[in-house]
Amino acid sequence: MSEGKGLKIFIGVIVIGIIAAIVALVASSLKRLDTYEVGLKYDTIARSLEDSATNEGLHLGPPGFEFIIFPSVYKTISFSNLICLNKDGVEITLDVAYQYQAQANHLKSIITQFKDHDTYLIVLYSVGTASLHETCSLFNTSQLQSERGLFQETVRVTLQERYAELHADVTDLQVNNIARPSTYEEAVRSKEAARENIEVARNERPRLETQATTQKREAETQADITVALAESQARIIINRANVEADAIIDQYTKESETYKNLVGSSGLSLTADGFLSYIGVRAISSAKNPVYIGLRSPAKTSYVTP
Ligand SMILES: *[C@@H]1O[C@H](CO)[C@@H](O)[C@H](O)[C@H]1NC(C)=O
Repeated sequence: MSEGKGLKIFIGVIVIGIIAAIVALVASSLKRLDTYEVGLKYDTIARSLEDSATNEGLHLGPPGFEFIIFPSVYKTISFSNLICLNKDGVEITLDVAYQYQAQANHLKSIITQFKDHDTYLIVLYSVGTASLHETCSLFNTSQLQSERGLFQETVRVTLQERYAELHADVTDLQVNNIARPSTYEEAVRSKEAARENIEVARNERPRLETQATTQKREAETQADITVALAESQARIIINRANVEADAIIDQYTKESETYKNLVGSSGLSLTADGFLSYIGVRAISSAKNPVYIGLRSPAKTSYVTP
């Protein structure tokens, strides 16, 4: 009774064990690939890699196999603030993004070389960096400013060539930013400002020249006027002086005649001294202000005592 029961339990355990083993075996022979995944079966026991890739779904393989999985769609690689030296040796900061995809028909070769997707991606990044540096060094600073389209095209061609060697396709390349150093930008801006200032000065020149010419002409005219005025005033002064001189001569002529008559009628001798004394007295008597004058006495005496 107890022996038969023990045997049943033993058989039961064996059966359960066998079932569990079968389940485990089936489980280890079944692997799933998700959407957007592609994989290569790798037999971890035999250490062998299948030749062709498998797409999404549940797949049966040798017990203990696993998938080496790659994306089956394009994935983005982006570089932001990548610094490279251009042809002029100027530091350029680049923002670049593109998409890559491993070629499914070359998956075995890729995995043989690079082990898995993580390692492959590291290689893709470094080859991408090298391609950007290479292209950057072919362009000078002004070309990077004015020929962005050509730069992007050159990056695309270089990347495609380099990635083809790694069995990767490239698409949708975008060069989002090409930045020159801020000091360079500043220099360019101040050069631009200086150019504008020069242009303004150049435009101002005719106006300023006209203004200066006008001022010069006005000054010349003013000078002419001043000279003419001075000449006319001089003429007036000369005329007036001439008139006064004439008047004085006229007056002295009259005085001398009067004196002559006086001397003639009184029988006095006609001397120059006598005449000057006479004139002196006349001048003093007609002067408005006090007059201080030195006259020789004898002449005066000869006049005072006739
Ligand atoms: C940049 O390269 C272009 C084309 O080769 C050339 O015409 C230009 O003079 C270069 N500019 C400078 C600043 O070297």
